[in-house]
Amino acid sequence: MIIKTHNQIPKIPSSEITDPLIFKERRKIIKTMLAMTVAGMVSPYTKAESAKSKGATVAKSKFSNASLTPTSAELVKNYTNYYEFAFDKEGSTQLAQTLRTDPWSVEISGEVEKPGAYHLETILRQQTLQERIYRFRCVEAWSMVVPWVGFSLADLLKIVKPLSTAKFVKFTTLYQPETMLNQRSTAMLTWPYVEGLRIDEAMHPLTMLAVGMYGDVLPKQNGAPLRLVVPWKYGFKSIKAIVKIELLKKPPLTTWNQSAPHEYGFYANVNPAISHPRWSQNTERQLGSGFFTPRRQTELFNGYGEQVAALYRDMDLQHFF
Ligand code: MTE
Repeated sequence: MIIKTHNQIPKIPSSEITDPLIFKERRKIIKTMLAMTVAGMVSPYTKAESAKSKGATVAKSKFSNASLTPTSAELVKNYTNYYEFAFDKEGSTQLAQTLRTDPWSVEISGEVEKPGAYHLETILRQQTLQERIYRFRCVEAWSMVVPWVGFSLADLLKIVKPLSTAKFVKFTTLYQPETMLNQRSTAMLTWPYVEGLRIDEAMHPLTMLAVGMYGDVLPKQNGAPLRLVVPWKYGFKSIKAIVKIELLKKPPLTTWNQSAPHEYGFYANVNPAISHPRWSQNTERQLGSGFFTPRRQTELFNGYGEQVAALYRDMDLQHFF
Protein backbone atom coordinates (compact mmCIF):
# COMPACT_ATOMS: atom_id res chain seq x y z
CA MET A 1 0.00 0.00 0.00
CA ILE A 2 1.17 3.63 0.49
CA ILE A 3 0.61 4.59 -3.09
CA LYS A 4 2.12 7.93 -3.97
CA THR A 5 0.28 10.01 -6.53
CA HIS A 6 -0.23 13.69 -7.02
CA ASN A 7 -3.92 13.74 -6.79
CA GLN A 8 -5.66 16.90 -7.87
CA ILE A 9 -8.79 17.10 -5.77
CA PRO A 10 -11.54 18.44 -7.99
CA LYS A 11 -14.12 20.74 -6.47
CA ILE A 12 -17.33 18.81 -5.90
CA PRO A 13 -20.37 20.38 -7.53
CA SER A 14 -23.17 20.65 -5.00
CA SER A 15 -25.45 18.67 -7.34
CA GLU A 16 -23.29 15.59 -6.77
CA ILE A 17 -23.56 15.70 -3.01
CA THR A 18 -26.28 13.42 -1.65
CA ASP A 19 -29.51 15.20 -0.98
CA PRO A 20 -29.29 16.11 2.71
CA LEU A 21 -32.93 15.11 3.19
CA ILE A 22 -32.21 11.51 2.08
CA PHE A 23 -29.20 11.34 4.34
CA LYS A 24 -31.25 12.71 7.24
CA GLU A 25 -33.84 9.97 6.71
CA ARG A 26 -31.27 7.14 6.93
CA ARG A 27 -29.73 8.84 9.93
CA LYS A 28 -33.13 8.94 11.61
CA ILE A 29 -33.70 5.22 11.00
CA ILE A 30 -30.33 4.20 12.41
CA LYS A 31 -30.59 6.66 15.30
CA THR A 32 -34.01 5.25 16.18
CA MET A 33 -32.55 1.76 16.14
CA LEU A 34 -29.70 2.88 18.32
CA ALA A 35 -32.25 4.30 20.75
CA MET A 36 -34.24 1.05 20.69
CA THR A 37 -31.25 -0.96 21.84
CA VAL A 38 -30.67 1.01 25.02
CA ALA A 39 -28.80 -1.01 27.61
CA GLY A 40 -28.39 -0.25 31.30
CA MET A 41 -24.72 0.56 31.10
CA VAL A 42 -23.17 2.74 28.46
CA SER A 43 -19.60 3.85 28.05
CA PRO A 44 -18.72 7.41 29.09
CA TYR A 45 -18.05 8.06 25.43
CA THR A 46 -21.54 6.98 24.36
CA LYS A 47 -23.08 8.95 27.21
CA ALA A 48 -21.49 12.14 25.98
CA GLU A 49 -22.59 11.48 22.41
CA SER A 50 -26.10 10.46 23.42
CA ALA A 51 -26.57 13.68 25.34
CA LYS A 52 -25.90 15.46 22.07
CA SER A 53 -28.16 13.19 20.03
CA LYS A 54 -31.19 13.24 22.32
CA GLY A 55 -30.80 9.89 24.05
CA ALA A 56 -29.54 7.48 21.41
CA THR A 57 -27.44 4.84 23.11
CA VAL A 58 -26.23 1.43 22.06
CA ALA A 59 -26.10 -1.95 23.76
CA LYS A 60 -22.70 -2.68 25.25
CA SER A 61 -21.06 -5.78 23.86
CA LYS A 62 -19.04 -8.38 25.75
CA PHE A 63 -16.70 -8.34 22.74
CA SER A 64 -15.79 -4.70 23.34
CA ASN A 65 -12.37 -3.68 24.72
CA ALA A 66 -14.05 -1.37 27.23
CA SER A 67 -10.74 -0.39 28.86
CA LEU A 68 -9.31 1.12 25.67
CA THR A 69 -9.55 4.84 25.03
CA PRO A 70 -10.94 5.54 21.56
CA THR A 71 -8.86 7.61 19.17
CA SER A 72 -10.35 11.06 18.60
CA ALA A 73 -13.36 10.84 16.26
CA GLU A 74 -12.06 13.80 14.25
CA LEU A 75 -8.87 11.95 13.45
CA VAL A 76 -10.62 8.70 12.47
CA LYS A 77 -13.01 10.61 10.21
CA ASN A 78 -10.27 12.56 8.48
CA TYR A 79 -7.50 9.98 8.05
CA THR A 80 -9.08 7.40 5.78
CA ASN A 81 -8.05 4.84 3.18
CA TYR A 82 -10.64 4.71 0.41
CA TYR A 83 -8.85 4.09 -2.86
CA GLU A 84 -11.97 4.25 -5.01
CA PHE A 85 -11.92 7.98 -4.31
CA ALA A 86 -8.27 8.94 -3.86
CA PHE A 87 -4.89 7.52 -2.94
CA ASP A 88 -4.31 9.92 -0.08
CA LYS A 89 -6.10 10.16 3.26
CA GLU A 90 -7.48 13.69 2.98
CA GLY A 91 -8.56 13.30 -0.64
CA SER A 92 -10.54 10.15 0.07
CA THR A 93 -12.25 11.76 3.04
CA GLN A 94 -13.35 14.73 0.98
CA LEU A 95 -14.35 12.93 -2.21
CA ALA A 96 -16.26 10.16 -0.42
CA GLN A 97 -18.92 12.77 0.41
CA THR A 98 -20.20 12.40 -3.16
CA LEU A 99 -21.12 8.73 -2.64
CA ARG A 100 -24.80 7.93 -2.97
CA THR A 101 -25.78 5.50 -0.21
CA ASP A 102 -29.55 5.58 -0.54
CA PRO A 103 -31.35 3.31 -1.34
CA TRP A 104 -29.01 0.47 -0.34
CA SER A 105 -29.45 -3.25 -0.57
CA VAL A 106 -27.09 -6.18 -0.19
CA GLU A 107 -27.24 -9.15 -2.52
CA ILE A 108 -26.57 -12.40 -0.68
CA SER A 109 -25.96 -15.38 -2.93
CA GLY A 110 -24.09 -18.62 -3.54
CA GLU A 111 -24.09 -21.51 -1.10
CA VAL A 112 -27.02 -20.32 1.04
CA GLU A 113 -30.55 -21.53 1.67
CA LYS A 114 -32.07 -18.06 1.44
CA PRO A 115 -30.34 -16.02 -1.27
CA GLY A 116 -31.81 -12.63 -2.13
CA ALA A 117 -31.40 -8.88 -2.36
CA TYR A 118 -31.99 -7.55 1.14
CA HIS A 119 -32.68 -3.87 1.85
CA LEU A 120 -30.29 -2.52 4.43
CA GLU A 121 -33.26 -1.46 6.55
CA THR A 122 -34.61 -5.07 6.53
CA ILE A 123 -31.22 -6.38 7.62
CA LEU A 124 -31.01 -3.82 10.41
CA ARG A 125 -34.49 -4.53 11.75
CA GLN A 126 -33.43 -8.13 12.43
CA GLN A 127 -30.35 -7.12 14.43
CA THR A 128 -29.57 -5.58 17.78
CA LEU A 129 -26.96 -2.92 17.32
CA GLN A 130 -24.03 -3.00 19.70
CA GLU A 131 -21.10 -0.75 20.41
CA ARG A 132 -17.75 -2.51 20.20
CA ILE A 133 -14.51 -0.76 20.97
CA TYR A 134 -11.87 -2.52 18.86
CA ARG A 135 -8.23 -2.00 18.07
CA PHE A 136 -7.74 -1.33 14.35
CA ARG A 137 -4.32 -1.98 12.81
CA CYS A 138 -3.51 -0.96 9.25
CA VAL A 139 -0.92 -2.88 7.24
CA GLU A 140 0.84 0.51 6.84
CA ALA A 141 1.83 0.18 10.54
CA TRP A 142 -0.45 2.77 12.11
CA SER A 143 -3.20 1.91 14.54
CA MET A 144 -6.22 3.38 16.23
CA VAL A 145 -9.03 2.44 18.60
CA VAL A 146 -12.56 2.78 17.23
CA PRO A 147 -15.96 2.40 18.93
CA TRP A 148 -17.88 0.76 16.08
CA VAL A 149 -21.66 0.31 16.07
CA GLY A 150 -22.99 -2.80 14.38
CA PHE A 151 -23.66 -6.51 14.79
CA SER A 152 -21.91 -9.85 14.28
CA LEU A 153 -21.73 -10.94 10.65
CA ALA A 154 -22.63 -14.43 11.97
CA ASP A 155 -26.04 -13.10 13.04
CA LEU A 156 -26.79 -12.08 9.46
CA LEU A 157 -25.39 -15.29 7.96
CA LYS A 158 -27.49 -17.42 10.34
CA ILE A 159 -30.60 -15.79 8.87
CA VAL A 160 -29.67 -16.64 5.27
CA LYS A 161 -28.45 -20.09 6.34
CA PRO A 162 -25.13 -21.07 4.75
CA LEU A 163 -25.12 -24.58 3.25
CA SER A 164 -22.50 -27.09 4.41
CA THR A 165 -20.74 -26.49 1.08
CA ALA A 166 -20.06 -22.82 1.97
CA LYS A 167 -16.35 -22.64 2.85
CA PHE A 168 -15.54 -18.99 2.08
CA VAL A 169 -17.31 -15.63 2.05
CA LYS A 170 -16.63 -13.01 -0.60
CA PHE A 171 -17.52 -9.34 -0.05
CA THR A 172 -17.80 -6.76 -2.81
CA THR A 173 -17.87 -2.96 -2.63
CA LEU A 174 -20.22 -0.81 -4.67
CA TYR A 175 -19.18 -0.05 -8.25
CA GLN A 176 -20.11 3.59 -8.88
CA PRO A 177 -17.54 5.14 -11.25
CA GLU A 178 -19.59 8.37 -11.55
CA THR A 179 -18.58 9.21 -7.99
CA MET A 180 -15.81 6.69 -7.24
CA LEU A 181 -13.54 8.31 -9.76
CA ASN A 182 -10.58 5.94 -9.41
CA GLN A 183 -12.82 3.09 -10.57
CA ARG A 184 -12.49 4.59 -14.06
CA SER A 185 -8.95 3.23 -14.28
CA THR A 186 -7.58 -0.19 -13.45
CA ALA A 187 -3.97 0.93 -13.67
CA MET A 188 -3.49 0.72 -9.92
CA LEU A 189 -6.10 -1.75 -8.69
CA THR A 190 -8.96 -3.74 -10.17
CA TRP A 191 -12.51 -2.78 -9.25
CA PRO A 192 -14.82 -3.30 -7.54
CA TYR A 193 -12.87 -3.82 -4.31
CA VAL A 194 -13.23 -7.41 -3.12
CA GLU A 195 -12.33 -9.08 0.16
CA GLY A 196 -12.83 -12.54 1.58
CA LEU A 197 -12.83 -14.65 4.71
CA ARG A 198 -12.88 -18.33 5.46
CA ILE A 199 -16.32 -19.36 6.72
CA ASP A 200 -15.10 -19.97 10.29
CA GLU A 201 -13.53 -16.49 10.33
CA ALA A 202 -16.76 -15.02 9.02
CA MET A 203 -18.81 -16.83 11.67
CA HIS A 204 -16.48 -15.77 14.51
CA PRO A 205 -18.37 -13.52 16.93
CA LEU A 206 -15.69 -10.79 16.78
CA THR A 207 -16.28 -10.31 13.03
CA MET A 208 -18.78 -7.52 12.64
CA LEU A 209 -20.69 -5.50 10.11
CA ALA A 210 -20.61 -1.84 11.14
CA VAL A 211 -23.24 0.79 10.35
CA GLY A 212 -21.97 3.38 12.79
CA MET A 213 -19.12 4.60 14.92
CA TYR A 214 -18.76 6.97 17.87
CA GLY A 215 -22.47 6.53 18.65
CA ASP A 216 -23.52 7.91 15.27
CA VAL A 217 -24.18 6.80 11.69
CA LEU A 218 -21.06 5.65 9.83
CA PRO A 219 -19.53 8.54 7.85
CA LYS A 220 -19.27 7.94 4.12
CA GLN A 221 -15.48 8.06 4.14
CA ASN A 222 -15.39 5.30 6.78
CA GLY A 223 -17.48 2.88 4.71
CA ALA A 224 -21.14 3.90 4.95
CA PRO A 225 -23.62 2.52 4.94
CA LEU A 226 -22.24 -0.96 5.73
CA ARG A 227 -18.68 -2.17 6.22
CA LEU A 228 -16.85 -5.18 7.55
CA VAL A 229 -14.64 -4.99 10.66
CA VAL A 230 -12.28 -7.89 11.43
CA PRO A 231 -10.20 -6.63 14.37
CA TRP A 232 -7.44 -9.28 14.32
CA LYS A 233 -6.62 -8.69 10.65
CA TYR A 234 -4.96 -5.80 8.83
CA GLY A 235 -7.36 -3.01 7.99
CA PHE A 236 -7.55 -3.74 4.26
CA LYS A 237 -9.69 -6.81 5.04
CA SER A 238 -12.33 -4.47 6.52
CA ILE A 239 -14.06 -3.71 3.24
CA LYS A 240 -16.30 -0.62 2.92
CA ALA A 241 -19.66 0.04 1.24
CA ILE A 242 -20.63 -3.62 0.86
CA VAL A 243 -23.25 -4.46 -1.79
CA LYS A 244 -22.63 -8.17 -2.24
CA ILE A 245 -21.95 -11.11 0.08
CA GLU A 246 -21.35 -14.45 -1.66
CA LEU A 247 -20.88 -17.79 0.05
CA LEU A 248 -18.46 -19.88 -1.95
CA LYS A 249 -16.92 -23.33 -2.13
CA LYS A 250 -13.51 -21.91 -3.14
CA PRO A 251 -11.46 -18.93 -1.85
CA PRO A 252 -12.26 -15.72 -3.76
CA LEU A 253 -9.61 -13.61 -5.48
CA THR A 254 -9.23 -10.49 -3.35
CA THR A 255 -8.16 -7.02 -4.45
CA TRP A 256 -4.86 -6.51 -2.60
CA ASN A 257 -3.80 -10.13 -2.72
CA GLN A 258 -4.32 -10.09 -6.47
CA SER A 259 -2.45 -6.81 -6.94
CA ALA A 260 0.65 -7.84 -4.94
CA PRO A 261 0.43 -11.43 -3.60
CA HIS A 262 3.88 -11.36 -2.00
CA GLU A 263 2.94 -8.22 -0.02
CA TYR A 264 -0.69 -8.82 0.98
CA GLY A 265 -1.73 -12.32 1.95
CA PHE A 266 -5.27 -13.64 1.86
CA TYR A 267 -5.28 -14.14 5.63
CA ALA A 268 -3.64 -10.81 6.59
CA ASN A 269 -3.63 -11.66 10.28
CA VAL A 270 -1.79 -9.01 12.29
CA ASN A 271 1.58 -10.55 13.09
CA PRO A 272 4.64 -8.64 14.39
CA ALA A 273 6.93 -11.49 13.33
CA ILE A 274 6.09 -11.29 9.62
CA SER A 275 7.46 -8.16 8.01
CA HIS A 276 5.93 -6.57 4.97
CA PRO A 277 8.63 -6.80 2.25
CA ARG A 278 9.09 -3.02 2.49
CA TRP A 279 8.74 -2.38 6.25
CA SER A 280 8.65 -4.07 9.64
CA GLN A 281 5.36 -4.93 11.32
CA ASN A 282 6.96 -5.21 14.75
CA THR A 283 5.69 -1.87 16.07
CA GLU A 284 2.94 0.59 15.16
CA ARG A 285 2.33 4.34 15.28
CA GLN A 286 -0.74 5.04 17.39
CA LEU A 287 -2.75 7.73 15.59
CA GLY A 288 -3.38 10.72 17.78
CA SER A 289 -0.61 9.97 20.25
CA GLY A 290 1.88 12.73 20.97
CA PHE A 291 5.08 13.20 19.01
CA PHE A 292 7.17 11.74 21.83
CA THR A 293 4.91 8.77 22.51
CA PRO A 294 6.87 5.61 21.75
CA ARG A 295 5.55 3.29 19.05
CA ARG A 296 3.37 0.47 20.34
CA GLN A 297 4.59 -3.12 20.22
CA THR A 298 2.31 -4.89 17.71
CA GLU A 299 0.54 -7.92 19.14
CA LEU A 300 -0.07 -11.22 17.36
CA PHE A 301 -3.66 -11.21 16.04
CA ASN A 302 -3.74 -7.55 17.14
CA GLY A 303 -4.24 -8.69 20.74
CA TYR A 304 -7.21 -10.96 19.97
CA GLY A 305 -5.18 -14.19 20.12
CA GLU A 306 -7.12 -15.62 23.03
CA GLN A 307 -10.30 -15.50 20.95
CA VAL A 308 -8.98 -16.39 17.49
CA ALA A 309 -5.68 -18.31 17.68
CA ALA A 310 -7.57 -21.63 17.58
CA LEU A 311 -8.76 -20.81 14.06
CA TYR A 312 -5.16 -21.12 12.86
CA ARG A 313 -3.94 -23.91 15.16
CA ASP A 314 -2.57 -26.20 12.47
CA MET A 315 -1.39 -23.56 10.02
CA ASP A 316 2.07 -22.28 9.19
CA LEU A 317 1.51 -18.55 9.65
CA GLN A 318 4.69 -17.70 7.71
CA HIS A 319 3.25 -19.43 4.67
CA PHE A 320 -0.40 -18.42 5.12
CA PHE A 321 0.29 -14.77 5.95
N1 MTE B 1 -12.69 -0.74 1.39
C1 MTE B 1 -12.80 -0.24 0.15
N2 MTE B 1 -13.91 -0.50 -0.55
N3 MTE B 1 -11.85 0.54 -0.40
C2 MTE B 1 -10.68 0.81 0.25
O1 MTE B 1 -9.82 1.50 -0.30
N4 MTE B 1 -9.36 0.49 2.27
C3 MTE B 1 -9.04 -0.52 3.30
C4 MTE B 1 -10.25 -0.79 4.18
N5 MTE B 1 -11.45 -0.96 3.38
C5 MTE B 1 -10.51 0.28 1.56
C6 MTE B 1 -11.56 -0.48 2.11
C7 MTE B 1 -7.91 -0.13 4.10
S1 MTE B 1 -6.40 -0.22 3.37
C8 MTE B 1 -8.04 0.24 5.40
S2 MTE B 1 -6.68 0.50 6.39
C9 MTE B 1 -9.36 0.49 5.99
O2 MTE B 1 -10.42 0.29 5.07
C10 MTE B 1 -9.39 1.92 6.47
O3 MTE B 1 -10.58 2.19 7.14
P1 MTE B 1 -10.84 3.70 7.62
O4 MTE B 1 -10.60 4.58 6.45
O5 MTE B 1 -12.26 3.74 8.10
O6 MTE B 1 -9.85 3.95 8.72
